[in-house]
Amino acid sequence: MKRRPLIVGNWKLHNTVGEAIALVEGLKRALGDVAGCEVAVCPPFTALYAVRGALCGTAIALGAQDCHWAERGPFTGEVSPGMLRDVGCRFVIVGHSERRQHFGETDAVVNQKLLAALAAGLNPILCVGERARDREAGRTQEVVAAQLEGGLAGVSAARLPEVVVAYEPVWAIGTGTPARPEDAAAVAVGMRQCLRAGWGESSEAVRLLYGGSVSGANVRGFLGQAVIDGALVGGLSLDPVEFARIVEAARSLET
Ligand code: PGA
Repeated sequence: MKRRPLIVGNWKLHNTVGEAIALVEGLKRALGDVAGCEVAVCPPFTALYAVRGALCGTAIALGAQDCHWAERGPFTGEVSPGMLRDVGCRFVIVGHSERRQHFGETDAVVNQKLLAALAAGLNPILCVGERARDREAGRTQEVVAAQLEGGLAGVSAARLPEVVVAYEPVWAIGTGTPARPEDAAAVAVGMRQCLRAGWGESSEAVRLLYGGSVSGANVRGFLGQAVIDGALVGGLSLDPVEFARIVEAARSLET
């Protein structure tokens, strides 16, 4: 099945409102036409509203980096999926390894967030990926499958195509050392088998991204793998020229 390529920028804990708008303006200049490819940026919560305005009239979608599972209530400091929809988000990242590592998020928590995001009409981007020690122990497929099944528990086959999955080996994130494209593809094949076993035919529509030290120089290696449909870009999504190079690579594959 032909799936539309998707490039997502995860800005993490970067950018004031002013910096965020400047980055969007830089992106608009660098990007040009994004036809043939879907592009989204995920600023911090405080910049979402301003970035939504700055993106007006472009084909770039807005996403958030996390959400809570409840729509409202006594959860000081949290932001609900409905609030993200209200501010103009289409995507929300759930289960990023930094949330799992620094904020103790388990598969059960990630699953609650993902279900709440779907219920609010957002497209969740579920992040999964093994740590270096899992990899050294030969447990990559097992760890990734468990995260996938845990994160997607309770999602119906009808709703599954709304989910995006990002395979991000933890040891490749922010290190400048990406996975080898063929290794990422092998994991992605295992993930597709796992999705097919659990959800059948509808899993074919799920887009599978690679993330972890993606750059304009290496992205083609990943996008050239038939099982990989796009990229989740961290550090280099803060550089408009580099991010535009990554998008351009996805577009040129498409045409
Ligand atoms: P990186 O981050 O591109 O800086 O490695 C990717 C991510 O954390 O999503």
